[in-house]
Amino acid sequence: MRGKAWLWHSTDVSRKTKRLGRYHLTERIAYGGMAEIFRGFTFSSEGFRHDVAIKKLLPHYVEDQQFITMLTDEYRLVSMLKHENIADVYELVELADTLLIAMEYVDGKDLRSTVEKARRSNTSLRFDDIVYVMASALDGLHHAHNAEDESGDKLQIVHRDFSPSNVLLSYDGLVKICDFGIAKAKLSRVKTRAGIIKGKVKYMSPEQAFGKNLDRRSDVFSAGSVLYELCTGRPPFRANSEVELIFAVRKANAPDCRAVNPHIPEGLADIIRRSMMRARAARYQSSLEFRDALVEFLSRFNADYRATRLARFMKKLWEPEIDAELRALEEFALDLTMDDKVDYGKNLIADALGPDAQYEKFQPRPTHSNVDPLALDNEPTVVSSAPMLELLSDKTRVTPPKKK
Ligand SMILES: Nc1ncnc2c1ncn2[C@@H]1O[C@H](COP(=O)(O)OP(=O)(O)O)[C@@H](O)[C@H]1O
Ligand SMILES: [Mg+2]
Repeated sequence: MRGKAWLWHSTDVSRKTKRLGRYHLTERIAYGGMAEIFRGFTFSSEGFRHDVAIKKLLPHYVEDQQFITMLTDEYRLVSMLKHENIADVYELVELADTLLIAMEYVDGKDLRSTVEKARRSNTSLRFDDIVYVMASALDGLHHAHNAEDESGDKLQIVHRDFSPSNVLLSYDGLVKICDFGIAKAKLSRVKTRAGIIKGKVKYMSPEQAFGKNLDRRSDVFSAGSVLYELCTGRPPFRANSEVELIFAVRKANAPDCRAVNPHIPEGLADIIRRSMMRARAARYQSSLEFRDALVEFLSRFNADYRATRLARFMKKLWEPEIDAELRALEEFALDLTMDDKVDYGKNLIADALGPDAQYEKFQPRPTHSNVDPLALDNEPTVVSSAPMLELLSDKTRVTPPKKK
């Protein structure tokens, strides 16, 4: 059966891993309103480990066909975004009873957890770290805002949920945005119904809290709110209930950042104020403009700043977690090389496939195939590759190899 191509199904990795489609899930890293996020891995056809983050939709959402259509449309766009400040989306997979999104694993922690952990550890990100993180994230946003399809049409992607938990910081000091999940773009077939506000209220732009049509300047405001919170230690808008919070965001009348934290350099405070202007026309008109202002500030504030600063901060802050994560991975590595005399990766192919089998090379980006990936074992996990995946961009597809 052609499905034998998916040889990594046959590997007996570790009892601790949970198999889902072509992926082994090793630990759950988050549990959100919409999905569970796991760390996981798969193998290339050469047997190399490839780390992934798997977002597994909660059952409730999988039953909602309209939602799935929306998500598919979104990910068709998001999968086109290739940028160093955006977590790469590999594929969207439909399984028997769930839906998963496979992404580049960012080895680190999100900004929200990092800020919380820093607070508990009586430390904090410095202004130069904050500016570097935000400038990088804005670079990613700018790329999304300007992305075009093959025919040169703007995709008009707006993130819509830019918040600290959607900014990932790697232990190596890289910054990547994730979770473009509710971004609505021109190509979306299912429109957000008027009045329905999606996303985290805390970081919404005023126009978003009014349920208006959004453009890139909405993300500029949200990024401004995140910057405000990072610099002051307090969110710009606070209220006792969600409804009151919506009203506060609509007014967009946050206490001045320097009144909350007088240590904020004036130049940086100006940038915060400008990014959070209530009137769109008074804000930075693009993420790039916003980013350039931050970069310019950093060149005056600390011209020698390097991302290695952030890397050192992250490694120190998360040291126990990093150790634990490495230990966990060692276990898997041991399991993978059950016989250390063989090149396990290659042998795996041979064992699983037999001499004249065809197989597909693992390519991290495009892993869709018409081959039924179930075949090798009896786990009722993977069902089909279609029709949802048909909608994904051509760039995310792999042509199944011809039979010899
Ligand atoms: N690609 C990734 N690599 C590492 N961690 C991730 C990745 N994607 C998400 N996470 C972690 O999972 C959390 C939730 O993921 P997200 O995609 O934002 O889903 P949600 O819809 O629940 O907000 C993030 O805040 C981050 O801690
Ligand atoms: Mg999120």
